[in-house]
Amino acid sequence: LVIDASDGSGRPIPNTLFGIFFEEINHAGTGGLWAELVNNRGFEAGGTKVPSNIDPWTIVGTESSIVVQTELNSCFERNKVALRIDVLCDYCSSDGVGISNPGFWGMNIVEGRKYKVVLFVRSIGPLNMKVSFRKAAGGQILASSNIKGSALEVSKWKRMETTLVAHASSSNSVLTLTTTQKGKIWLDQISAMPLDTFKGHGFRSDLVDMIVQLKPAFLRFPGGCFIEGHRLKNAFRWKDSVGPWEQRPGHFGDVWNYWTDNGFGYFEGLQLAEDIGARPVWVFNNGISHTDEVDTRVIAPFVQEALDGIEFARGTSTSKWGSLRASMGHPQPFDLKYVGVGNEDCEKLNYHGNYLAFYYAIRQAYPDIQIISNCDASVRPLAHPADLYDYHTYPNDARHMFSNAHVFDKTPRHGPKAFVSEYALVGDNQARHGTLLGAVSEAGFLIGLETNSDHVVMASYAPLFVNANDRKWNPDAIVFNSNGAYGTPSYWVQYMFRESNGATFLNSQLQTTDPNSVVASAILLQNPQNKKTYLKIKIANIGNNQVNLKISIKGFGSSNPSESTKTILTSEHALDENSFSNPKKITPQQSQLQSSGNEMNVIIPPISLTVLDMFR
Ligand code: AHR
Repeated sequence: LVIDASDGSGRPIPNTLFGIFFEEINHAGTGGLWAELVNNRGFEAGGTKVPSNIDPWTIVGTESSIVVQTELNSCFERNKVALRIDVLCDYCSSDGVGISNPGFWGMNIVEGRKYKVVLFVRSIGPLNMKVSFRKAAGGQILASSNIKGSALEVSKWKRMETTLVAHASSSNSVLTLTTTQKGKIWLDQISAMPLDTFKGHGFRSDLVDMIVQLKPAFLRFPGGCFIEGHRLKNAFRWKDSVGPWEQRPGHFGDVWNYWTDNGFGYFEGLQLAEDIGARPVWVFNNGISHTDEVDTRVIAPFVQEALDGIEFARGTSTSKWGSLRASMGHPQPFDLKYVGVGNEDCEKLNYHGNYLAFYYAIRQAYPDIQIISNCDASVRPLAHPADLYDYHTYPNDARHMFSNAHVFDKTPRHGPKAFVSEYALVGDNQARHGTLLGAVSEAGFLIGLETNSDHVVMASYAPLFVNANDRKWNPDAIVFNSNGAYGTPSYWVQYMFRESNGATFLNSQLQTTDPNSVVASAILLQNPQNKKTYLKIKIANIGNNQVNLKISIKGFGSSNPSESTKTILTSEHALDENSFSNPKKITPQQSQLQSSGNEMNVIIPPISLTVLDMFR
């Protein structure tokens, strides 16, 4: 490998190159990043007609002591279903009767942590309810508090709030609301959130920490297929996801098949991007779902909805939609500069026509916004104007993924830039739940993207998150359950590329007997702490043989061996994975670089990503 590091020889890598893509899939937001513990907090998940099932709520008590049913008499206009509880027992057991919610496969309650419970209630007669977190198995109380109201106070719907402090822990807990008083109670919008969320904004801190570690330049959200819907009526529409959480109608995402209360909505996506220092990339529905489409002649309301969404993000706090944002606690505009017109819709009947309607309206109102088309321009030019085009790749053969490093080698450099917004090796044979082989194949691809970063200006892996209890899509970058998380090898590959944004890409030549198995890149960058310039060389080897690589570096000066390191991501077997029982089996391992100088020999293990950092 010959690297030219002489002054002025490289070219800048865009500072947007590597980011993340958050989609509401696999319970990534609902029951994941969004720290709401209650599942189906408004009783809407069973549908808008009553009686409906209240799954996953369960009844505490016997048939003779309690009757529970849904009614359409909530105080909230956009989510009318509420729960009525008839307490029948004159002498209820001391534990009381009521309802219980298991959250998303068990709530994680931690000793010493505080939890805010908010609910809306109405009652005939005075109210005295016990609110408690209990162990799912055995019912041991971990935290509890009482909510009380006089008959007059609760004769109409009333918001009640209490804070619970846990005195014991369990990662498999439930929230129970119980009473020992005979009477009738209506409940709606019951929320339980830990108080110590990321920046107090409702995001699960451990999961945000994992994405912050990737130093993402952008956050694409909220989908993916999620924004399309299988049917248009089930597509994600931003106006249903903003404003006070208890007033949001929620919706059934019919592609990934689960109910979301839209606690993690459009505002929260923008807020998350800001909180992690990433540029938001908002993808909206363009009047096209997986099975139905709006004709271009009547697309205007959808275009207006997108314009309103941009005004929500960027308008002044006195504008119509900007004032709603301000009322949610963010008077300053969000820095929204990228929008995606739909997802994977290029081949659909009305895409081209609909796209143009969005494009011209947005371009006119917001000339600085970068507009992303769904159509692929890597081989042929687009039939419509765009700033960027969206490119997705999900091969199921690792060699194919690895060779995708060359996909953009011949793409003409005029025209829109590429946004590789979804890439991953998939399939049960080689990718499974996230194998080393998959990750190394992706590393090869990413080296290709760095090499072509004069054209590819943004890239993100997909999907980002999976709740291990609801795997709709495998593999994913971050696996979590109620109380823990780990990165798959693909996560660690992204981690090993996290310094590339804004670095200088150097010319290098790799001579090898097996060019289909080894690729390499070299970048120059500055250590943000000590401002020292250093050289980072990445080598991906997807072959089954170790490679003895001779590296010659021109124009770097003499490197300081004591500061030079070698970091390797590999494992014993190609199909090895991380897991909750062995979350760090495959993680980058750093050691001092034994030989470092302008000429050196480095051993590159089979199926590995190796990163060499050299300081001068
Ligand atoms: O990343 C999972 C899905 O793959 C996305 O929702 C979609 O855009 C693609 O088909």
